Amino acid sequence: MNPSASIGPRLNAILELVTEAQQKEAYPCIWDCCCDHGYLGIKILSYNLCEKLVFVDQLPHIIEQLAAKIAPFGTGKHELITADAGDLVFDSQNRHLVILAGVGGECLIEIISKIESKHPDVQIDYIFCPSSRHKLLREYLSSLSMGLLSEQLVCDKKRCYEIIYVQGKTQTGLLPAVSLNCGLWDMDNVDHQQYLKKINTPRASKKPKRRIK
Ligand SMILES: C[S@@+](CC[C@H](N)C(=O)[O-])C[C@H]1O[C@@H](n2cnc3c(N)ncnc32)[C@H](O)[C@@H]1O
Repeated sequence: MNPSASIGPRLNAILELVTEAQQKEAYPCIWDCCCDHGYLGIKILSYNLCEKLVFVDQLPHIIEQLAAKIAPFGTGKHELITADAGDLVFDSQNRHLVILAGVGGECLIEIISKIESKHPDVQIDYIFCPSSRHKLLREYLSSLSMGLLSEQLVCDKKRCYEIIYVQGKTQTGLLPAVSLNCGLWDMDNVDHQQYLKKINTPRASKKPKRRIK
């Protein structure tokens, strides 16, 4: 990927969120977990937004391809890790920002529960952008002591994506909990209305096939 190439509204919204966060109180280390093509991490690197950017994916061939792609950036400011994101180790000296985008809610819950159970004393904040099972993820997040920093709905080519930015460990009362539903509907936005209808429509149960005699 050419670092100046555009990345589409979904990843761009996350990039803007990261840029704003870094202007307020910078995270020294940002993790592009489940990175695949690495587009987001490459942008973060090329805009020099943090001291260290870590690319993580569970598939070795993805990390190998990415290593070749980001070679022009030189070493020192980034790291590549082939691993299940739930098995990562975070040092307690730093605040961390973990980005988890493009994977389903169930997978995200597994990753978060593994990370949080192993790091009870490390400040880890997250940006989530699930590809499915948003409600399940919200239910899970609302049951934890995580605080909502911001949320937004981004639509691209008739698909809408929820982007949820949370503080991993928050003192009760300082930030609102993550709510069970995204509250950012724009009633005049056709894409928002279609998405709202879609997620509130119960899935059709499969009818048994009729036998042809
Ligand atoms: C659809 S891509 C998402 C790419 C990018 N984050 C985005 O939002 O465009 C999903 C990637 O997540 C990786 N992945 C899925 N589960 C993972 C896990 N538990 N740990 C690390 N990587 C994982 C897959 O190998 C795949 O490359």
